Amino acid sequence: MIGFYARTAALCGTMLLTAPVFSIEMPPMSEKEAAAAAADYQKYCALCHGEDRQGYANDDAPSLSSKSLFISGFPNQISLTVTYGRRGTPMGGFSNEVGGPLDQKTINRLLTWLKDQSGAEPDEQFPSVVTGDIVRGEEIFAGECAICHGENGEGEIAPAIGNPAMLALTTDNFLRYAIENGRDGTDMPAFGPLLSAEEIDAVTAFLRSKAAGWDTGAPALRSPPSLEDWVLNPGSSAPLFKLKDELYVKAAELYQALQDKRRMVLLDTRVPSVWQMAHIEGSVPIPYYYDDFEGLAKDLPSDGTWIVTYCECPRAAAESVDRKLRAQGLQNTAVLWEGIQGWVSLGYPVAVGQVPEDPKDP
Ligand code: HEC
Ligand code: HEC
Repeated sequence: MIGFYARTAALCGTMLLTAPVFSIEMPPMSEKEAAAAAADYQKYCALCHGEDRQGYANDDAPSLSSKSLFISGFPNQISLTVTYGRRGTPMGGFSNEVGGPLDQKTINRLLTWLKDQSGAEPDEQFPSVVTGDIVRGEEIFAGECAICHGENGEGEIAPAIGNPAMLALTTDNFLRYAIENGRDGTDMPAFGPLLSAEEIDAVTAFLRSKAAGWDTGAPALRSPPSLEDWVLNPGSSAPLFKLKDELYVKAAELYQALQDKRRMVLLDTRVPSVWQMAHIEGSVPIPYYYDDFEGLAKDLPSDGTWIVTYCECPRAAAESVDRKLRAQGLQNTAVLWEGIQGWVSLGYPVAVGQVPEDPKDP
């Protein structure tokens, strides 16, 4: 059994301990802005989430009025859901970055308004990682949760909490908070009085272990690529990336280059435990806190091979590694614009640790 540390959604902001915890700015709003946000809500969201945010008007869309949701999820979790949507559910992404109708400022205004309406005072100091016994968690899920969420988390009369996109975009504690406190004004019960803290941790870790899909079993730890495998497709030519702001490569372009088997190096700049959970195939875990960039620069090719970094939030950790590589004189470096969360939300594939024959007995 693996004591699973469990998460893909390690927002860089929450992990760069010296940086501000949240980078998404959500300033308080004027009356005029609030009125504009209320109108946007009616125009874009009320159809499914209900005129009064009560939920369940259409497509079983959950409530957007519960305090619990905003205490645990504002701003990051909620913003990511609305920006990118939840693939495989009727909740589409609204950001113009993914082809939606709204720019990020308008989304932020709308979310601040929703938070104010709910009366929540979000707790920004939320710790992010929950560890627990996934095998125990699986039993609890079957006994307590499947009746509403479906045996495979596919969503019966409650949201599809087994949805990989949803799990990739939420922190452990966002899930844990919903389990412990329920969602006021909805059918989601508070399990705080019913389960012990360890049991809640266990079921949270179990859900997180499904981040790569319900059927993949528990991943075993995987070794990072060895040095001679860092350059992907070494015999092939380099892709012709058109960088945005001379720094960013878009997910679609990167995906195409990987499909075309172009030569490049991919660096995953998050904490390596998150690389274990899910990463872009072929990437090397070089976390933002790596301490020998001089040595690293010597290990990386200097023949114009692209070195693409990515992280999660979407960009702080990757930008920091990219800056250090450029300072070492490396050229042709780029940062994945959408981050891995955007990558997952856009439906591009990720790899997880190797799956043992019998997932229960690695
Ligand atoms: C076509 C229907 C539809 C529309 C329109 C829609 N949503 Fe959703 N939304 C959903 C569904 C369905 C889910 C639940 C998805 C799931 O199963 O995970 C959801 C989930 C969410 C969540 C996550 C809630 C939670 O409990 O974690 C947020 C936040 C959200 N929507 C905000 C919005 C906002 C803001 C708008 C308007 C800009 C909007 N939605 C428009 C259907 C919709
Ligand atoms: C009686 C039905 C019911 C049971 C039992 C139940 N849930 Fe829920 N759950 C819901 C509903 C309904 C929602 C959506 C609430 C809303 O509108 O915000 C929800 C929401 C959630 C969410 C938040 C999902 C999101 O998209 O933000 C999580 C996580 C969750 N449940 C986990 C669990 C776990 C784990 C268990 C078992 C320990 C469980 N639930 C048992 C009905 C249920």
